Amino acid sequence: MAKIIRREQGENVQITDLGKAAPAGVLPFDASEATRLIRQRRSIFPEAFSGEPVSREDIELMLENAHWAPTHGRTEPWFFKVFTGEGLRRFGQAHATLYQQHTAPENFKQETFDKLAQRPTECSHLIVICMKRGENPKIPVMEEVEAVACAVQNLHLTATALGLAAYWGSGGMTYHPAMREWLGLGADDQCLGLFMVGKPKAAWPEGKRKADWRDKVEWNEA
Ligand SMILES: Cc1cc2nc3c(=O)[nH]c(=O)nc-3n(C[C@H](O)[C@H](O)[C@H](O)COP(=O)(O)O)c2cc1C
Repeated sequence: MAKIIRREQGENVQITDLGKAAPAGVLPFDASEATRLIRQRRSIFPEAFSGEPVSREDIELMLENAHWAPTHGRTEPWFFKVFTGEGLRRFGQAHATLYQQHTAPENFKQETFDKLAQRPTECSHLIVICMKRGENPKIPVMEEVEAVACAVQNLHLTATALGLAAYWGSGGMTYHPAMREWLGLGADDQCLGLFMVGKPKAAWPEGKRKADWRDKVEWNEA
């Protein structure tokens, strides 16, 4: 693959393996830019948020880009409930209360209750990721979930491009029917997680992968 020389933070940095510009006549993208964005996307947790607010404009750009995810049958099954300001405290209290109501006393942990209540208040925005089942019964539920996951990746990549810290959490009561009910979703709909957004207070974390990507690919050429 072509070696690309880029000027980055005032220095000449040579980056290899990132890709190249699209050929003339095709959309004017530079694959190295896309590659850098994809590889720099990180899950950054609320403990590492600065507490500064993210602008409504940035959140709207993330949500609008999420809406450009692919979707089989154009069902567009994603739905986002955004909590911010006092709404964060309200969501945290509700989540912790759902946990308490639906956990057997012998399994209940005060630490978990407190964390569920506290965490949202560390975010600038908390976006509840919902799958709203489309009206085309030919589209399997799995594909609706897959489409929402694509939308979340768009959210996350846009957050990265804006320099925002974010992560998709699926803990607590995320998949419990009581959460679906609290959110006012229908019986066929599903909460798929909590997307927490803030500004990073520390250096951007390094990414890591356990396997080599080549181990995840099988080529069939004959
Ligand atoms: C569907 C989904 C659910 C996740 N839920 C959690 C979670 O509940 N807690 C958590 O710490 N990370 C969660 N993550 C984030 C992963 O921990 C994270 O993506 C992984 O560590 C790789 O790090 P990276 O995103 O920085 O590449 C979730 C990711 C996905 C895709």
